[in-house]
Amino acid sequence: MPGIPYAEVIGDPIAHSKSPIIHRFWLQALGIEGDYVATHVTAAGLAAHFRLRRDDPDWMGSNVTVPHKQALFDIVADRAGLQKTLGALNTVFGDGEGGLVGTNTDAGGFLEPLDDVPLEGKAVAVVGAGGAARAVLLALASRDVGRVTLLNRTPDKGRVLLDQFGLLGDVVPLDAALPAVDLLVNASSLGLAGQPPLVLDLTPLPPTAIVYDIVYAPLETALLAAARARRLATIDGLTMLIGQAALAFEIFFEAHAPRERDAELRALLTA
Ligand code: ATR
Repeated sequence: MPGIPYAEVIGDPIAHSKSPIIHRFWLQALGIEGDYVATHVTAAGLAAHFRLRRDDPDWMGSNVTVPHKQALFDIVADRAGLQKTLGALNTVFGDGEGGLVGTNTDAGGFLEPLDDVPLEGKAVAVVGAGGAARAVLLALASRDVGRVTLLNRTPDKGRVLLDQFGLLGDVVPLDAALPAVDLLVNASSLGLAGQPPLVLDLTPLPPTAIVYDIVYAPLETALLAAARARRLATIDGLTMLIGQAALAFEIFFEAHAPRERDAELRALLTA
């Protein structure tokens, strides 16, 4: 019996995902008969899960989170050659011919709030050299930023990334002084609930600098608080989360997310 069109987020663990709240809010706002659920899928069950989904006519697609972002490359066609560049897929859907394709919406979601910010040639600092930092660096490379200072606990990991994305710059340890950058991004897990805070001396930043923290749990990080104390413009992690979800929503439900209702959605997500 046919059900209603649905999409999902899969991961292990998955219970705390905010994606169902976001997609259900948009589905309801647009009056689309559809659903978005969280599904617990282990690494061992990943391939079998997608065999089932592929044959389900109501399945519109899946967002994929920890720990599956890399394993997916063995299961789907790699749209846009993301294996080489990003090493991570976070969105999977059917190709209409019985196959599966994967893409990544993190880089696009990261850039959305920077659409109107001239980044070309600007100096940027990025904290982190893991999976999230890769998406951020790919995004920054696509906007032709100038020099990038990458701060990481393990500096060697950062050098490889800058080279891979063709970015010019330096890799420094976390306790190095910040240069006078136009944009500072935390793409590390520092500041996440249960992790130490990211503590940086923001004094060298000019008054026009933007501080962007991709951590959204908690939303108020020590980094953003320090930036606000200096009256710098800030972008929080919920902005990126909603941005990447909107890109996935368009793929799954072939509709534009009603972004004019972001304030309501943010209130719902932080309630
Ligand atoms: P994600 O997919 O969220 O990016 P990740 O790939 O594990 O997660 O990367 C986590 C990032 O946060 C890395 O840059 C990591 O630093 P290392 O490259 O030195 O491992 C950084 N990180 C995590 N915990 C940290 C801590 N306690 N102190 C400093 N850096 C930390």
